[in-house]
Amino acid sequence: MAILVTGGAGYIGSHIVDLLMRKGYKTVVADNLTTGHRKAVHPKAAFYEGDIRSQDFLNSVLCREGIEGVFHFAASSLVGESMKDPLNYYNNNVLGSLSLLKALEAHKVKKLVFSSTAAVYGEAKSQPIREDAPLSPASPYGETKLAVERMLHWWAQASGARFVSLRYFNAAGAKASGEMGEDHQNETHLIPIILQAALGKRESVSIFGDDYPTKDGTCIRDYIHVEDLAEAHLLALRYLEDGGESTVLNLGGSKGISVKEVIEAAEEATNKYVNVTIAPRRPGDPAELVASSEKARLMLNWKPQKTSIRQIVEDAWSWHRSHPDGYHKL
Ligand code: UFG
Repeated sequence: MAILVTGGAGYIGSHIVDLLMRKGYKTVVADNLTTGHRKAVHPKAAFYEGDIRSQDFLNSVLCREGIEGVFHFAASSLVGESMKDPLNYYNNNVLGSLSLLKALEAHKVKKLVFSSTAAVYGEAKSQPIREDAPLSPASPYGETKLAVERMLHWWAQASGARFVSLRYFNAAGAKASGEMGEDHQNETHLIPIILQAALGKRESVSIFGDDYPTKDGTCIRDYIHVEDLAEAHLLALRYLEDGGESTVLNLGGSKGISVKEVIEAAEEATNKYVNVTIAPRRPGDPAELVASSEKARLMLNWKPQKTSIRQIVEDAWSWHRSHPDGYHKL
């Protein structure tokens, strides 16, 4: 029996595929390669190129591979982009998930780990944010992920399936060896942008707003190392394999770091000065997002090992320095 990873060629998905392969799981990746990279997928994982909105595609994968559990990453995942093109987010994220659940139901696959997000909380009233905080997404991205969480709830109730929704805070860093990492076309994420500036590939980094009600006026986020995230996914799968009930868990390092602090950590790790300019706020950005991850620590016995901003930036730097063109020239 195998594990299906939708979106397994993307940044977070590919790190989970790598971990599953190292742990001896038979791993099957389905990805349409719109934003993912074929070269990011472990060479020994089975790979199917296609779109999960196609029932024919999903049925062919599910008929050929005996799938017993699914990690569902395939989605559009940028807050800013979702503000400009909300319908595409509903199409890709909600219709994609609906199509997947339909196929899983037909093939009686009953365990799913869902890639959700801190963006479901929007502008939270208090920090750190617990799973029972009000859900009030400030972007179509968060809204569509929340819609899928609700769909999973009713699907599980009706079908006897079980799921874990993992609400990530800011995934960052790279595999410590530097052989895998983050590679988005038209990069919008803070840490890769800073490191591209350190590499001389960009002139400067724009700080989106320095007038937020935070310690230094810049947005605060909770950065979590992608390898710690991968570990949490494996633990969530094992939890379901052991008969655990459906649940929702935050995954973060529980430490708030400002944009300015990330820039300072990157300058230290790279030993390079980064030019900074102050730009207007980016629509859809909450001032502060910091996780309470107590529930994941208790229920999964999850202990993030690599989540300090220094380690995150150092590992990301190993990747960017050794792969300035990402996966393209491999
Ligand atoms: N930022 C800048 N300049 C940049 C890029 C980002 O100042 O050039 C700021 C943003 O305004 C934000 C912070 O850096 O305050 C982090 O921005 P990212 O784009 O790196 O990440 P986001 O917080 O927007 O979003 C990420 C994921 C989402 C997820 C969210 C949860 O992309 O999928 O974390 O916290 F929902």
